[in-house]
Amino acid sequence: MYKLTKLLFLGALLLIASSARSQDSDPNMGIVPAPVSVKKATGDFVLGQQTVIFADSANKAVTFFTDYLLNKLYLRNPLKIGDGSNTPNSIQLTSKGAENLPADGYRLSITPQQIIIAGKGAGLFYGVQTLLQLMPADHGATIKIPSVQIEDYPRFVYRGLMLDVSRHFMSVEFVKKTIDAMAYYKLNNFHWHLTDDQGWRIEIKKYPKLTSIGGQRAQTLIGGYRDRTPQQFDNTPYGGYYTQEQVREVVKYAADRYINIVPEIEMPGHSTAAVAAYPELSCDPTKTYKTAESWGVFHDVYCPTDKTFDFLEDVLTEVMDLFPSRYIHIGGDEVPKDAWKNSIFCQKLIKKLKLKNEEGLQSYFIQRIEKFVNAKGRSIIGWDEILEGGLSPNATVMSWRGESGGIAAAQQSHYVIMTPGSGGMYIDHAQGRKDEPLSIGGYTPLSQTYSYNPTPAALTAEQQKYILGVQANLWTEYIGTETKADYMLYPRLLALSEIGWSALSNKNFKDFSETRIPAQLAYLDRNNYDYHVPEAIGAPDSILFGPQLDVQLKPSVAGAKIYYTIDGHTPRETDLEYHLPISYTVPQDQYRELQTIVISPSGKRSQVTHLVVYNRAPLAPVSYLGNSPGLKYQLLQGNFDNTGEFKDAAIIDSGVVKSFNLAELKKQRPSFGVIYNGFLRIDNDGVYVFSTKSDDGSVLTIDDQPVVNNDGKHPLTEQGGAVALQKGYHKLTLKYFDIGSVRGLKVYVTMPGKAKAELSPDWLFN
Ligand code: ACM
Repeated sequence: MYKLTKLLFLGALLLIASSARSQDSDPNMGIVPAPVSVKKATGDFVLGQQTVIFADSANKAVTFFTDYLLNKLYLRNPLKIGDGSNTPNSIQLTSKGAENLPADGYRLSITPQQIIIAGKGAGLFYGVQTLLQLMPADHGATIKIPSVQIEDYPRFVYRGLMLDVSRHFMSVEFVKKTIDAMAYYKLNNFHWHLTDDQGWRIEIKKYPKLTSIGGQRAQTLIGGYRDRTPQQFDNTPYGGYYTQEQVREVVKYAADRYINIVPEIEMPGHSTAAVAAYPELSCDPTKTYKTAESWGVFHDVYCPTDKTFDFLEDVLTEVMDLFPSRYIHIGGDEVPKDAWKNSIFCQKLIKKLKLKNEEGLQSYFIQRIEKFVNAKGRSIIGWDEILEGGLSPNATVMSWRGESGGIAAAQQSHYVIMTPGSGGMYIDHAQGRKDEPLSIGGYTPLSQTYSYNPTPAALTAEQQKYILGVQANLWTEYIGTETKADYMLYPRLLALSEIGWSALSNKNFKDFSETRIPAQLAYLDRNNYDYHVPEAIGAPDSILFGPQLDVQLKPSVAGAKIYYTIDGHTPRETDLEYHLPISYTVPQDQYRELQTIVISPSGKRSQVTHLVVYNRAPLAPVSYLGNSPGLKYQLLQGNFDNTGEFKDAAIIDSGVVKSFNLAELKKQRPSFGVIYNGFLRIDNDGVYVFSTKSDDGSVLTIDDQPVVNNDGKHPLTEQGGAVALQKGYHKLTLKYFDIGSVRGLKVYVTMPGKAKAELSPDWLFN
């Protein structure tokens, strides 16, 4: 019994993360994104003051590397232009040997004698980044770098991050720091969301009111949409913008790191700040407009007059002068059409141009701007709404409302950047299920961002070539500080990096989250980045059954400490520090609750985990004399955050269903709850491991004892728990709720001696 329980206990833990265990515990040597090929060798190269750097020419990667040695490692190494192939203790940066590599690829060879980085342009720079990642954190005057042969190149040409600086302004220093991290993780496009309803953030010389009026708002909404009714404001003016000189400085800083900056000037919607500065750009110039003070979609859009096009062409001319980017983002998302519907001018224009409707007018708007941008030798990118009413001839589409816009665009032979919120690319969502800072809503854990694959199966291999790459977006409605922006960016930016760069076959969430993330978070910790500290590895929130609580933990940040309690109190640094595997006997009819917290070297804290182990006598069967298959259900009306809110909900339907298949519930709403009640037939005494995989929350009790707690708003997530049952019937209750349109529910069981399987309707009665 003891052995069996222990085995099942482990089994339950493995439910949560089940990927193949590699023989080598660190096959990627801590590197993010995982390289295409890593061949470890023996011995170390010793980098010190005596090391000579050789380079073919003084290009950007060489300057970056020597500056890094000087400013970060305090090494003033001699730099020689030329070939030092046979010079011992030298580092060569060369384009030789990179001839047959895919674009932006590199080869890195480290032996005890020499380091050779072969690559061209960005490739050489990426080889340097990999070398930096191989340098140990703690070193003295000499730095030992392990021998290895790496060959590497990116999966996608576009690996992007968007930062919204309109809702909240972010300083030049913060932008540069973010660009540093992007470079370290081989991202190559910084999408700068510079204008929106709540603030215009780039100096335009010809239109100074864009920043003096549009760059300011009188006050800002406090809290979230649902936090306060009526809405409350902070009564504090807010503003900020970048001068053109600052923009040039940032563009150069990024270019020195092989990062292109894609500027976004929103049109025709999300333009309240511009309209507040210049009301004549709206369809009703007699109205007074103010820079928006709350979030959402606003109706004060640009009017498609010649005046507006002249204005936008002037703005774009200055923007294109500042940004060498081939791509100019023109927004195009979320354009309410009522101002155009109510405008005599717009209605006449629709007739004159023989357009169908206001969607046609939006298409006309974007196409007219595209012509202008194309004439300057640049291309436009727009959010996927630019498909509506017909796509501009050369436009690239950013697919954000799921993947369907991207799929449609690729099918029309247009280039696409995938950035779906539903695919984990909206990193303004919370990254934990509880106790997270205020966010816009949604739950996007690291695992979800990591698991995104930007090439939808709906596209043929030929169509998939139109997917240029992938991007994550950091919208900042609820991100008022740079520390919080960091917190939301990391570690999800590292998952983005791996999606964009690494071969699909090299992706492995276990290696990524349990080995490389801890190493990389230690790097971010040392370099003054804030980040979300993942929970201790090896202590998932779970309910288990057995006479023993055994866990082996690992900190989620290298060098961090884990503290724990078993007395029901929230752990902190005054509690027990984890050093050795934890083992507690759980006496009969008692339970032990292990709570853990990770505290990083700089003092950052993870959420607290709760692992409960019950040692109960196997539950005796209950009396059930019927033989009627299926479960009773009650369908509940409501927008639930957790199943605890079911108490007062109205019942909209009830009846009997055969299984947990949600399709059997006929009257489900966009948001609903359901309670299933019935009996579970158990044919053998033993320990049963249950789990639910649900979007959103679910809670399973057996004989009124909690077994699976998978509650709360979240995407498809699996949680498990175990219980010992005696042969016979047991009362089963499953509560489930969903918010929104994406839903899912599966219930699994591992019976004694059997493999995990979906809980079959054969065992369910009412
Ligand atoms: C967007 O999130 N409105 C592109």
